[in-house]
Amino acid sequence: MPIILPNHKLEEIPSIVFSELRNGISRKKHPFKNVVLTTVNEKTPMSRWVVFRKLTLENNLLIYTDSRSEKIKTLRKNSNCGILFYNNKQGLQIYFRTVSTIHQNNELTKKYWQGVVGTSSENYTTIYPPSSPINNIYEGHKTEKDLNDKHFSIIELCPINMSVLQLSRDGHIRANFSKANNGWEGTFIVP
Ligand SMILES: Cc1cc2nc3c(=O)[nH]c(=O)nc-3n(C[C@H](O)[C@H](O)[C@H](O)COP(=O)(O)O)c2cc1C
Repeated sequence: MPIILPNHKLEEIPSIVFSELRNGISRKKHPFKNVVLTTVNEKTPMSRWVVFRKLTLENNLLIYTDSRSEKIKTLRKNSNCGILFYNNKQGLQIYFRTVSTIHQNNELTKKYWQGVVGTSSENYTTIYPPSSPINNIYEGHKTEKDLNDKHFSIIELCPINMSVLQLSRDGHIRANFSKANNGWEGTFIVP
């Protein structure tokens, strides 16, 4: 069922979107749990699924990763990236153009590392860095004895633009917004 309806005002849409993003974090199996992150290396785009972990008080989005990963190398060179959500039950697509900040070995990573428990910590503690060629699959699972947060990093994504598409049998609704003066300014556009 659509959640953005023809009687909604343009200026109501950003708060509907962000409350839906909060649902994505708090509700199990919500379609916004996973999101597609696109980076651009030189001129080559690369997309991959990641887990959408947190929405900050400033409405920035947090993603966990290994600091040795390709996406981090790319983001260090070009902090512009995009993040794409789709809720197939609601027919709601949201795309954010974002600027990223990488956190490693700081207060934020220390805070959230405490919540990375058990086998999850192995995602950030492999002996060989992500994307290294290996001779067999077991080498890819070898972790350091001390499961510490040395390689644990958080990508903080600050949205600059937001593009919203609500699919609906009653007529699709599409709107674009840009961040302005701590709020969002936008316009409806032809779907
Ligand atoms: C559903 C799903 C969730 C994923 N979540 C993450 C994640 O939160 N962080 C991450 O670094 N990789 C995650 N991955 C793996 C990435 O898609 C990707 O394969 C990996 O991070 C390497 O990407 P890179 O070489 O571009 O850095 C996830 C994959 C899937 C299918």
